[in-house]
Amino acid sequence: MDSLLIKGGVPLEGEVTISGAKNAVLPILAATLLTSETCVVRRVPDLSDVKFMAKILMSLGAKVVLDGDTITVRAARLKPVGNYNLIRKMRGSICILGPLLGRQRQAQVSLPGGCVIGPRPIDLHLKGMRDLGAELTIASGYINAKAKQLVGADIFLGGRAGPTVLGTANVMMAAVLAEGVTTIQSAACEPEVVDLAYFLNKMGGNIVGAGSPTITINGVKELHGADHDVIPDRIETATFAIAAVATDGEVTIRGSRPDHLHAVLDKLKEAGVRIDRKGLTMTVRRGSRLKPVDITTLPYAGFPTDAQAQMMVLMTLTPGLSIITERIFESRFMHVSELARLGADISIEGPSAIVKGGTRLSGAPVMASDLRASAALVIAGLAARGTTQVNRIYHLDRGYEKIDSKLRRLGARIQRVRES
Ligand code: EPU
Repeated sequence: MDSLLIKGGVPLEGEVTISGAKNAVLPILAATLLTSETCVVRRVPDLSDVKFMAKILMSLGAKVVLDGDTITVRAARLKPVGNYNLIRKMRGSICILGPLLGRQRQAQVSLPGGCVIGPRPIDLHLKGMRDLGAELTIASGYINAKAKQLVGADIFLGGRAGPTVLGTANVMMAAVLAEGVTTIQSAACEPEVVDLAYFLNKMGGNIVGAGSPTITINGVKELHGADHDVIPDRIETATFAIAAVATDGEVTIRGSRPDHLHAVLDKLKEAGVRIDRKGLTMTVRRGSRLKPVDITTLPYAGFPTDAQAQMMVLMTLTPGLSIITERIFESRFMHVSELARLGADISIEGPSAIVKGGTRLSGAPVMASDLRASAALVIAGLAARGTTQVNRIYHLDRGYEKIDSKLRRLGARIQRVRES
């Protein structure tokens, strides 16, 4: 298994360009299954999750061509079965259910299985499909869904932790070809949902309200091919911004969408970070002195759970007490024990992590447990004295395009160690 070797203590300096958003491109690739015509998706990040989604589309019978940062998909004919061996490896693959059901009126998709950041049920996805008139059964680890006709409905998609991002995407993709009008109440408002709705409308769909808690989908008879540029990755942006501050450097971030990151930028400013914005470019560096801030993760436009681990590293380096509360995923504190190996003083009380900041971290071997925990460990390694080895970095390669070479260009001393 590959690892990253980081010699810390070097401030990051220079410019970085943000890649397309992983969590936007995955459902958009699934949406290409809704038409037999050719779709072109651009600004696609080079990630193992994207290659994986391409494999899933091919396994369903689609022709997929990857060329640089462009993917062309033509799903002339489709098989309705999403195989367990593929689906179990990536939870995002559940979003093939909506398109398969929408286009073919039948789908057999493996249940995605466990996840290290906590239980990740799909009851709301299934509820939405049932509300549209699909018959669903679960047998032998597969969701079997069929419908003579999908019919528009009023669907409430709020759950225990609020709205669901991929659930909203899935229901939107099934409803776009349903008969009549569907409204999703308590819809997820994330920019990735908006980008998907935009793509579906380019395909001939009729969706209004994406980005608000009520989405209205006026069903259409069929969709056609479309050409689309994926939005920039807001979590990659947040990760580089936090890394710049954590190393006491100054980084100019290009090609991002600061308007998708209000909650993170606001917290960084409250913590004493200086952010100079000019259009889609921003320069980030420490202001006079860092201050501790409390954070609670929430659905968009609140503070994103996907930036919680990275922010925790910054609070570890900031003198004072900070309370970080995780409200989206139950077990998303796997990074805490690994950060402790670098010297962090963090205790967990229920859904909150209490961070006693001001620690001088010192390098150590650590183990990455999930994508964002891995990003946090990389930031910690960059800020720590000495050498940090981050093991199991396949998690990072799932969601950060060429993170090691992007960091190297900013001056980081980071090397990928390949295991033969
Ligand atoms: N939930 C339910 N029932 C459902 C679906 C979700 O109770 O049917 C709960 C979840 O257990 C969780 C909450 O609702 O407590 C929110 O989960 P959501 O469904 O919104 O998560 P997701 O759609 O499976 C996407 C991202 C995650 C990101 C979350 C929250 C993709 C591929 N994944 O997951 O990204 O953390 O939204 O913003 O879009 C990551 O990139 O590292 C990552 C985990």
